[in-house]
Amino acid sequence: MPLQYQSGFGNACATEALPGALPQGRNSPQQCPYGLYAEQLSGSAFTAPRAENRRSWLYRIRPGVVHKPFAPFDGAPHWHGDFGHGPVTPNQLRWSPLPLPDAPTDFVAGVHTWGGNGSADEQAGVAIHLYAANQSMQGRFFYNADAEMLIVPQQGRLRLATELGLIEVEPCEIAVIPRGVRLRVELLDPQARGYLLENFGAPLRLPELGPIGSNCLANARDFLAPVAWYEDVEGDFELIAKFTGGFWRAPLTHSPLDVVAWHGTHAPYKYDLRRFNTIGSISYDHPDPSIFTVLTSPSDTPGTANMDFAIFPPRILAMEDTFRPPWFHRNVASEFMGLVQGVYDAKAEGFAPGGASLHNCMSGHGPDADTFEKASVADTSKPHYIRDTMAFMFETRRVIRPSAQALASPQLQGDYYQCWQGLKKHFNPERA
Ligand SMILES: [Fe+2]
Repeated sequence: MPLQYQSGFGNACATEALPGALPQGRNSPQQCPYGLYAEQLSGSAFTAPRAENRRSWLYRIRPGVVHKPFAPFDGAPHWHGDFGHGPVTPNQLRWSPLPLPDAPTDFVAGVHTWGGNGSADEQAGVAIHLYAANQSMQGRFFYNADAEMLIVPQQGRLRLATELGLIEVEPCEIAVIPRGVRLRVELLDPQARGYLLENFGAPLRLPELGPIGSNCLANARDFLAPVAWYEDVEGDFELIAKFTGGFWRAPLTHSPLDVVAWHGTHAPYKYDLRRFNTIGSISYDHPDPSIFTVLTSPSDTPGTANMDFAIFPPRILAMEDTFRPPWFHRNVASEFMGLVQGVYDAKAEGFAPGGASLHNCMSGHGPDADTFEKASVADTSKPHYIRDTMAFMFETRRVIRPSAQALASPQLQGDYYQCWQGLKKHFNPERA
């Protein structure tokens, strides 16, 4: 049976898995229905402005505090927050897809840190990871106190069993798990691979639309939060926490996915990237990629995001007398790109689904030589239909520092720079 969801972005949801489980008229009655405990999970400062305030009330079988003490956990050997401190190479970097694991590997064990900036302590910046797994988390639950998590599956469907309900995502969809929400990541296919962003800064939200108006880009109603769901299970379990960059393990004698009812705004959600209403030029020139922003994490400087999540979905290019792929550019922002499926229109080859590229602050990049030659002579009197693609970008205001394991990875393409070496000199002072 298909899962149920609640529609809308940032809505105050209210949902119960048993009739009458949600207290009426007050958040913390003296006694909750069904003998449940009330627990507030806050995702913003209590006094954050109303539009940014996030909290949910959970009505659960046992409160979240019921667990044995935490001890250090070494089961996430490739997931960390160490982005180094020295100078970062300005070279353009590109990686082939991460191989799928041979040994049994769940989501927590399968995360490989690829780069990042900032930290949970600073409450700013991001960590960027790739994941590759071949089994569901078994007897294990996880929460991330450091960051909100944005999951971008590239291969294989995931079932995210969270405290607030069930979410299923497939490639071309994304899921966002707020800070602190406990979950079990299950694989619905034999293998799973994709991208994971940890957002240490302000929670992701829809971008302002300005002159675009009240519609387009990602529409609020297409964001789906789960309905209440719970399991009442006892046994030998473990709760894994990511806290201050480290991993911790606490024994549990019950499943923490025992929230029978909840209401509030601090909740996981999913979004189908294929529903993105893409905006573009219908006259000439190539607009900035900010028009492709799905979600943004603002920083303290207006208009300068901690992180923008932008996508390059199937679309129609109609601009006349225009070089239609992205032009060559050097930006103050830093850009990490991934590819979910198909081909990215600025590269003829080398950027495979599951792969990644990193173009840091002021490092030049743009179309490769083949793409430049073709696009320079393309017939722009006709529209160009880009159908088989789904690329995305994590764009950050700070330099994205590649991790040591990303730089040492055999997937790093040492010859990436070659894709631009064939760009010919076309200059001719006699030809206007
Ligand atoms: Fe770029």
